[in-house]
Amino acid sequence: MYDLFNIKNKVVVITGGTGVLCSSMVKYLAAHGAKMAVLARDKAKGDKLVDEVTNDGGDAIFLQTDVTDETLLKQNAEEIIRKYGRIDVLINGAGGNMPGATIGPNNTIFDLKIDEFRKVVDVNLMGSVIPTIVFAKYMVDKKQGNIINISSESALRPLTRVAGYGAAKAAVSNFTKYMAGEMAIKFGDNFRVNAMAPGFFITEQNRTLLTNPDGSYSDRGKSIIAHTPFRRFGVPEDLLGTLHYLVSDASKFVTGTVAVVDGGFDAFSI
Ligand SMILES: NC(=O)c1ccc[n+]([C@@H]2O[C@H](COP(=O)([O-])OP(=O)(O)OC[C@H]3O[C@@H](n4cnc5c(N)ncnc54)[C@H](O)[C@@H]3O)[C@@H](O)[C@H]2O)c1
Repeated sequence: MYDLFNIKNKVVVITGGTGVLCSSMVKYLAAHGAKMAVLARDKAKGDKLVDEVTNDGGDAIFLQTDVTDETLLKQNAEEIIRKYGRIDVLINGAGGNMPGATIGPNNTIFDLKIDEFRKVVDVNLMGSVIPTIVFAKYMVDKKQGNIINISSESALRPLTRVAGYGAAKAAVSNFTKYMAGEMAIKFGDNFRVNAMAPGFFITEQNRTLLTNPDGSYSDRGKSIIAHTPFRRFGVPEDLLGTLHYLVSDASKFVTGTVAVVDGGFDAFSI
């Protein structure tokens, strides 16, 4: 019987693949038979992750990259084509907040460090736009492609403090929809572009915003939980079902969506 969720042998490129959320995606997709090209900056972390995946019987390679560097990404793409022959799926996972682009509780927008704001836009927005353009070319050669961006709750409604990050992720959601139309109209209905918008997951980047040094929740952490009907933060595994759906043929008529995975935060008012 045709298994809509079969992702065996799909060649999946994932940027930021060594991070907290994306390394869990790498292990999950590899365990379901996908061939993973893990792109990230830290070679030691990347090699360790690839060892873990291959020891568990999966297929993965690591390639060092910078998602804002088109030349490097083109070299990565050539290597992936040499190894696997095609690129079926691109997950634009690299990104995150930067402390300098955040407005602290005792500051105002006039204290914003414009260079840091620019950097956060560069990594999150341009770091999705450039890989999309580089890798989508190879997808067009094979007449099919599937791109999954990682947006954020902060794209849906601005959150206090994370001015630059929210602006950048809102642009990622917008670009997702733009590209859904662009790819389908110009290249046909074998091209899909979607995004996931994770809610609040405690990771290295936001730990100091959400928790105190003793591990208890900060005021911001408490306020997020109070606004989340599920009354908890997400864990990386919470993203895997939605990811699997978007990677697989189960979502083959789905393009231009931003799938929110947030324990109800966005839906909730009072
Ligand atoms: N943690 C959350 O609550 C949350 C919520 C919504 C969205 N997200 C998004 O999910 C994605 C993964 O985040 P995470 O929490 O796992 O963070 P993380 O810091 O663990 O992972 C981010 C990864 O991106 C990589 N990266 C950053 N800049 C890069 C660059 N220029 N080139 C290549 N790689 C680069 C980092 O090295 C790291 O491996 C990010 O896009 C983040 O914005 C996270």
